[in-house]
Amino acid sequence: MHRHPDLDPTAPFDDPVEYSLRPQRLQEYIGQDKVKVRIEIALRAAQQRGEVLDHVLFFGPPGLGKTTLAHVLANEMGASCKVIQAPALEKKGDLAAILTNLEAGEFLFIDEIHRLSAPIEEMLYSAMEDRKLDILIGQGPSAQTLKVDLRPFTLVGATTRAGLLSKPLHDRFGMVHRLEFYTRRDLAIIAERSAHVLAVPLAPEGAEAIARRSRGTPRICNRLLRRCRDFAQVKGDGTISAESAEACLQLHEVDDLGLDALDRAYLLALCQKHRGGPVGVRTLAAALGEDDGSLEDLVEPYLMQVGFLDRTPQGRRATDQAYAYLGLTPGPGPLFA
Ligand code: ADE
Repeated sequence: MHRHPDLDPTAPFDDPVEYSLRPQRLQEYIGQDKVKVRIEIALRAAQQRGEVLDHVLFFGPPGLGKTTLAHVLANEMGASCKVIQAPALEKKGDLAAILTNLEAGEFLFIDEIHRLSAPIEEMLYSAMEDRKLDILIGQGPSAQTLKVDLRPFTLVGATTRAGLLSKPLHDRFGMVHRLEFYTRRDLAIIAERSAHVLAVPLAPEGAEAIARRSRGTPRICNRLLRRCRDFAQVKGDGTISAESAEACLQLHEVDDLGLDALDRAYLLALCQKHRGGPVGVRTLAAALGEDDGSLEDLVEPYLMQVGFLDRTPQGRRATDQAYAYLGLTPGPGPLFA
């Protein structure tokens, strides 16, 4: 089963419009207030001392701004930022080439950093700690290690769950920030800011309607805004009103809470097939034909956020609100429908 494409925060981020909606500076960045305050102090301190910023780790569900914040940090430090996906680093030489080519003060953003292979991860340890690389040249008895000094740089790592990182890697980050789902209020402000960038008129109630269905995620908010812009242009007078936003989102089968077919299938499997749990995530994943990692990263965090799901040591449990949402009564239904 696939997510509605506009509700999939992991969908590739290569669209120039989406890119244009990303804030470039901390001042423009809406939400994540606690993280912003901590970052602002660290930035100012590093600037005052004339040093590079400490290595930073961001963790949290996809679409909450990890990549955006990496670019914001680099912009604030007046530096550029190289971006790499961890699985693209196959050989130690790939990372060595990137690290030795970094300019002084430059940022390196490694997305999905929990997916680095063990030898590459180990290479990062001394790079992060001592700005040194040990490069092995040749093979067998004649092999030699070459010690290379790196220019000062800041590594920004991103991962969906901090628990996926090994302790030695985790410990080498000076700052670890957890990104949270955004409030409806913040998402409505983000929708208004993005509408301004796109020069599309957006009524406050239209912003509310979009924010409510954005699953706490700015990337989804901006995608839905663009669908509503199309709809208002073609079916209305160009202004995104509450009515046109509601009609557009209904057309796309995005429900009132922003849940889509995969979320509903998950809840149905839990409530009907497994009597509301507790049940292991692997069992649910098998029932849905998904892998357990994607359920943990993409489906469960928001279901927990809206109060439909509890993760307990015994397994996943549906809450009474989940039953109410599905229009079902909790009780000993069939274990296998
Ligand atoms: N666009 C995407 N995320 C944003 C944020 N946090 N603030 C402002 N605009 C955004």
